[in-house]
Amino acid sequence: MKETAADARTVERATKIGNAADRCSRIVKSFLAMARQRPPERRAVDLADIVQATLDVTGYSLRTANIEVSLRIDPAVPPIWADPDQLNQVVTNLVVNAQQAMMESQGTRKLSIAAHYDDHRQEIVLALADTGPGIPEDIRGRIFDPFFTTKDIGEGTGIGLAVSHRIVEAHHGQIRVDSQVGEGATFTVTLPASGEQAEERPRVARAGRHQPGTQARILIIDDEPEVAQMLGDIMLAEGHEVETADSGEKALQLLSSSSFDVILSDVRMPHLDGPSLYAALERRDPALLQRTAFVSGDTLSPSARVFLQRVHRPFLEKPFTLEEVRELVDQILGRDDDPEGSLEESPGSKAESDTAVSERAGNQASAPERQ
Ligand SMILES: Nc1ncnc2c1ncn2[C@@H]1O[C@H](COP(=O)(O)OP(=O)(O)OP(=O)(O)O)[C@@H](O)[C@H]1O
Ligand SMILES: [Mg+2]
Repeated sequence: MKETAADARTVERATKIGNAADRCSRIVKSFLAMARQRPPERRAVDLADIVQATLDVTGYSLRTANIEVSLRIDPAVPPIWADPDQLNQVVTNLVVNAQQAMMESQGTRKLSIAAHYDDHRQEIVLALADTGPGIPEDIRGRIFDPFFTTKDIGEGTGIGLAVSHRIVEAHHGQIRVDSQVGEGATFTVTLPASGEQAEERPRVARAGRHQPGTQARILIIDDEPEVAQMLGDIMLAEGHEVETADSGEKALQLLSSSSFDVILSDVRMPHLDGPSLYAALERRDPALLQRTAFVSGDTLSPSARVFLQRVHRPFLEKPFTLEEVRELVDQILGRDDDPEGSLEESPGSKAESDTAVSERAGNQASAPERQ
């Protein structure tokens, strides 16, 4: 259509459609890549090899962009208990982001990659620092959100950091960013050493998360299919049975025909939103309220905040972590590690005081570190 159209307006429209289709296909591919990553294969891997493999692939493009790379990996860094392909993906995402950011700056373009072992915390610390424009404070808290991007259509889907965050977390690590506008950005990934992980595994097993017979039926309600799918994938991987509804109305239909142990709903949706769904359940089947929890992307908005405080139900703040999702579900199923903790007061619950909610909402930049 773009090639054959006679008028400029049609060409422009066709280009837009083409770009959108490209973007969709990349999103689908990223999700497929994410799905394929499960379950990850773990073995002792050498971080220096991972970084080198990434630079082998990105090196040419870094050189042609005039980016100087400084590499300092302390030989004392112990092996990591990890899926090498996934770690490679994390480092590649960070390198590509740094390169894309530095394309915007004139002057020095330098990417410093350094790794050391923190004896005290018993973790491996990998830092990638660039001399790009840095990340303004007002968006720093959102860069790990799925689909958050400042790049033009066709240049970025906003998936790189969301996937990286998930991978690092699945490796029991953390990823964070430090940045001063005008002075570049530094992404730091911390990961436990392989020895520690190997010792930790039996402990996790003893905690009995995947005991047979503890599966639950979970209803996920979100108008964004990507979010619903991601939550669903996490819960399926935990052995639960999942149904999704893309609207409050559809959820009510499902709830009238079958029963669920956990109902996890988005707060903001068109038509019947989280608060209206809650009100409908209050009238129809109040017992279900105890099984309800919420997901919210905008705890900053007064209406969402007031609602979450009023109903005093647990909620997940986007971007949520794997561990947070698990904790929330365990909490509703009454499988909390802390047998004393009530639903409202246990540590995983986020339905707390006004101050706590607003502090967290205003402090999203550190969200991925808070695990
Ligand atoms: N090194 C960096 N310097 C400045 N901004 C950055 C840097 N890394 C990430 N960002 C910001 O974070 C946003 C999200 O990054 P992310 O990697 O998740 O998505 P993306 O690069 O936009 O798209 P994709 O990775 O899917 O191609 C970017 O659009 C950019 O605004
Ligand atoms: Mg990226």
